[in-house]
Amino acid sequence: MAKTSVRYVCQSCGAVFPRWMGKCSDCSEWNSLQEERTAPSPSARAASNRVPSGSAVPITSIAARSSGRLTTGISELDRALGGGLVDGGVVLVGGDPGIGKSTLLTQMAFKVAGGGKTVLYVSGEESPQQVRLRSERLGALSEFLLVASETDVATICSLVESIHPAVVVVDSIQTTYDSSLDSAPGSVTQIRDCAMQLARTAKQLGIPLLLIGHVTKEGTLAGPRVLEHMVDTVLYFEGDRHHNYRILRAVKNRFGSTDEIGIFEMGGEGLREVENPSATLLAERSASTHGSVVTSTLDGSRPLLVEIQALVARSFLSNPRRTATGIDLNRLHMILAVLEKRLGLRLGDQDVYVNVAGGMRVIEPATDLAVALAVASSFREERVDPEVIVVGEVGLSGEVRSVPQAELRLKEAARLGFSRAIVPAHSKVAARGTSITVETVSSLDDALAKALRRGSIGAKRG
Ligand code: TYD
Ligand code: MG
Repeated sequence: MAKTSVRYVCQSCGAVFPRWMGKCSDCSEWNSLQEERTAPSPSARAASNRVPSGSAVPITSIAARSSGRLTTGISELDRALGGGLVDGGVVLVGGDPGIGKSTLLTQMAFKVAGGGKTVLYVSGEESPQQVRLRSERLGALSEFLLVASETDVATICSLVESIHPAVVVVDSIQTTYDSSLDSAPGSVTQIRDCAMQLARTAKQLGIPLLLIGHVTKEGTLAGPRVLEHMVDTVLYFEGDRHHNYRILRAVKNRFGSTDEIGIFEMGGEGLREVENPSATLLAERSASTHGSVVTSTLDGSRPLLVEIQALVARSFLSNPRRTATGIDLNRLHMILAVLEKRLGLRLGDQDVYVNVAGGMRVIEPATDLAVALAVASSFREERVDPEVIVVGEVGLSGEVRSVPQAELRLKEAARLGFSRAIVPAHSKVAARGTSITVETVSSLDDALAKALRRGSIGAKRG
């Protein structure tokens, strides 16, 4: 009889231990070890007795396979994928619950099916009726779109083998389970094992496979990091549930650049591609108020114009409030300290709120200068020229530091009709061929003097 062994697997990082411990010594997570029983499979035992043999060939004698790409018909998705789906390529799509992963992949499945190719959509989370209901709502009904409500990984693999579809979607990897394993669905061992079996089937048959994965509270994919290692492409679908914008971001891609993002808007009929995101994000800007500054951020290789808003108001608390939405709070604290110390702004008794309009999140230091100017503008009740775009990182001595790809950022601003740009002195910018006037600054002081609009508030745009 096969001997079962007991082991303890950390559900956070996937590390395996022979004994139970309160804290994983690999990732320092508390209470993450779970007991799992394993019986070695007969083939594994047979394999362990065999003498391993392998072969190696010169790289030049390997036939170069032109990896044909299957375009999904959703250009923002194709862009994030680096040009489309690759035969046998495994894509993991992660994101918070309710962000729109199933919606996106249903829409994609419909687009591919519309081209006469069979798509298999395996849902372990919803019944076929629920999948149909969503598809109806999305106007995505096609006889080439096959739906299966399955959770057993062996059944899914045999379905894929018998149907041999053009694309397979598994929604989600956490609900899939291998009945030969003792551990519960969703545990690290199950996720790893199921992903491996599905990926093997997809690779053998040369079918693109898309796996949907849930994200934990901390924002990482549930299950161990090994899941990310096992697949070819990892896409994160992110956004604020209370706003309509969604960003599909490639964090790993064996078949393309990871610098690509796709931008969508969630509406009544599902996800819509946003073709001109900068214009959409700035559409509701009110240029006549204090504390509003537009900056150009770089998301991957894509410049995006966002509006940074600040509100500085006298505080009635002994510990004034500092709130940051869409930017890092620590970064805001640093900028406030620099404004206080280097520019003499007395912010100690003021509440400061900073917000990135449209529910976007920016993590780049290149937006520092815009945050600083927005705060200064609100505090001084002086308007920043609405025609100006600002980029720059702020250093602790109040110096304005250079940013990468300044030229690309300015091009986007020029395209949207901005007439002036305030950029760091050390950034290499040649605004050739654009209508934008570039002004360089080396200190926060300098930037403030140039950006704040002289004249009365609410003056007509010149
Ligand atoms: P869903 O794709 O089910 O999210 P996930 O698979 O990532 O958990 O999307 C769920 C949300 O999207 C749900 O709150 C409703 C909303 N939604 C729309 O706003 N419009 C639509 O057309 C659809 C299908 C969903
Ligand atoms: Mg879903």
